[in-house]
Amino acid sequence: MNVLLTYISMTGRNKKIAEYLADYLEKKDVEVTLEQIVDTDAFELPTYDAVIVETYTYNDGEVPDEAKDFYDDLADVDLKRTKFAVLGSSSKAHIHFGRAVDYFTMALNSSNSEQVADSVKIDQDPDEDDFKRVERLGDYVIKSLK
Ligand SMILES: Cc1cc2nc3c(=O)[nH]c(=O)nc-3n(C[C@H](O)[C@H](O)[C@H](O)COP(=O)(O)O)c2cc1C
Repeated sequence: MNVLLTYISMTGRNKKIAEYLADYLEKKDVEVTLEQIVDTDAFELPTYDAVIVETYTYNDGEVPDEAKDFYDDLADVDLKRTKFAVLGSSSKAHIHFGRAVDYFTMALNSSNSEQVADSVKIDQDPDEDDFKRVERLGDYVIKSLK
C-alpha cells in the first residue's frame, strides 16, 4: 500500500505533525511519500491507494494561498480508487477554526474519494492527546487498505 501525505506549513506545526505521522505509518510498514502541497500534482493522486492532506487555515477561514491551485485541481480529479483523510493544526484564537480542513474534506468527498477517518483539527501546537488522534487517523487509513 502506498500513501501520499501532503502538507502545507507556514510556521512549522503541520510539518512536525506530518513528519510524526509519516514515521508512525512507516513503522507499520506503509510506504509513505511525504511532500508539500506546493509540490503535489493533484492529477497524480489516483496513483496512490490513499492520500492524507494536512493544512493550516489562513485569513478568516481560508485554504492557504499556496495550496489553492492544488485545491482547485481536486474538482477535476476522479479519486474513486483512492481513500483519504484530512488533518491540520490551526488556531481557536481565529474565527472559523480549522476551516481549511473542512474545505479539503468536502473537496475530496466531491472527487469520489472515500473518507476513511474523521478529519482531525488541532489547536496550534499538538499535545499528547492530539498525537494520539493523529495516530488513530493513521490506523484508520491502514485499516482501510487491508
Ligand atoms: C494571519 C493569520 C490568519 C489565520 N487565520 C486562521 C483562521 O482563519 N482560522 C484558523 O483556525 N486558524 C487561523 N490561523 C492560525 C494558523 O492556522 C495556525 O497558527 C497554524 O497552527 C499554523 O500552522 P503551521 O505552523 O503549520 O504554519 C491564522 C494565522 C495567521 C498568522
